[in-house]
Amino acid sequence: MPGIDDCRIIDFPKIADPRGNLTFIEGGRHVPFDIKRVYYLYDVPGGAERGGHAHIALSQLVIAMSGSFDVVLDDGHGRKRFHLNRSYYGLYVCPMVWRELNNFSSGSVCLVLASDLYGEADYYRDYGRFLMDVRGR
Ligand code: TYD
Repeated sequence: MPGIDDCRIIDFPKIADPRGNLTFIEGGRHVPFDIKRVYYLYDVPGGAERGGHAHIALSQLVIAMSGSFDVVLDDGHGRKRFHLNRSYYGLYVCPMVWRELNNFSSGSVCLVLASDLYGEADYYRDYGRFLMDVRGR
């Protein structure tokens, strides 16, 4: 089963320019899946937490487009905290990993690339149920 050791920071190409830097992301090349959906979190109030779920099959890539925040990953056997604060870094989050996003800086924007369209049936929203399934009950 995939776990937090499969999750990693991906360094995107960065075209440095005195007029402003440019980063690009190509599906299947810089991201280990085809991108089917993009969504973003913004206007996050201080102290808020997002996430708090796992996905059965969805792969995602999380980017701090602006500002910074933390992503805590948990596969039922271990936990890892990633601090995202550069718009040219993406955190690949594989399926069957519980994620929590917190410590958002003011004005931060979190962009997420996803391998599939939204589907509530793909979510674990109950941590206890998730733990039972990843630990084999
Ligand atoms: P959720 O995934 O729980 O947000 P987060 O993990 O960022 O805290 O989604 C919050 C709500 O938005 C939930 O009612 C489902 C809805 N939603 C969509 O309709 N489409 C989407 O692509 C996403 C990500 C969420």
